[in-house]
Amino acid sequence: MKFLSLGSLNIDRVYHVDHIVKAGETISSTGSSRSAGGKGANQSAALAKSGVCTYFAGKIGRDGTWILDLLSSYGVDVSRTIVSDSTGTGEAIIQVDASGQNSIIIIAGGNREFTSDDIDGILSGFAEGDVIVLQNEINRIGEIMEKASKIGMRIAFNPSPFEESLLTLPLGLVDFFFLNEIEASAIMGGSVLKTDRDFRAAAERLYAMFPGKGIVITAGRGGAYYRDSSGLYFSPIIDLPAADTTGAGDTFLGYFLSSICCGKNGQEALDTASRASAIAVSRQGAMEAIPFICEVESFDWHMQ
Ligand code: RIB
Repeated sequence: MKFLSLGSLNIDRVYHVDHIVKAGETISSTGSSRSAGGKGANQSAALAKSGVCTYFAGKIGRDGTWILDLLSSYGVDVSRTIVSDSTGTGEAIIQVDASGQNSIIIIAGGNREFTSDDIDGILSGFAEGDVIVLQNEINRIGEIMEKASKIGMRIAFNPSPFEESLLTLPLGLVDFFFLNEIEASAIMGGSVLKTDRDFRAAAERLYAMFPGKGIVITAGRGGAYYRDSSGLYFSPIIDLPAADTTGAGDTFLGYFLSSICCGKNGQEALDTASRASAIAVSRQGAMEAIPFICEVESFDWHMQ
């Protein structure tokens, strides 16, 4: 079984600030750095670091090839990524505040320049039973879903960053949804999710909308929920001191998806993903902060 993340790759320009800048305000950064990111690339890094056979296919400029080298060093096959002389690599301008929370502005670059031929070329190496992972930082998502489904690939979809137009996609083709509370609420038509009871009800309602599929809802500090044909599972947050939350959701997705597709049950998959993302949050950066499976398995949780 092969995992393909067909998605974004960004050069993350990270600014450390005391607080996220407000409208009309000018603030000083306490430090800045350039690092590897993009939801698609981060999720492929998480899949590979969790130990499964992973491919990343993106569209980037020459300025982003150092990130392909980094992905390769994690064991990701990047041979299907299109490096173009006529585009720039996507960028993300990220503020990280003193408590590790972030705000992000995306500049799409090559991420939104996929053509139909690009997609056909990328998917040509995959077969029934392989898994494709999609997010909302690239173009032609509906077309990719339809083509991947025709091949018989299983589709995992993380509709992030969310926009209303995503509701017109062929969501019935998706096998695994990865949603935060905003995305879950929008797909259900607008309910507010705050309490444990709200999240459990949302997982049930989404499962009724997409029967037989896997529904993951992450609730930030409220933990994570998973509903599939075998029932509803919950895992609380693991409270390590937060250095940088950027990429925590990508880490969670990669570890959850590899666990569930490799035969772990819903509870085991949630617990593994929660541990991996707790370690990622305790470190600076996005892709580089994602732990390897040996770190997740050897981390002494009782010491925390
Ligand atoms: O999910 C985190 C990622 O979102 C960052 O790495 C940034 O590039 C944006 O895509």
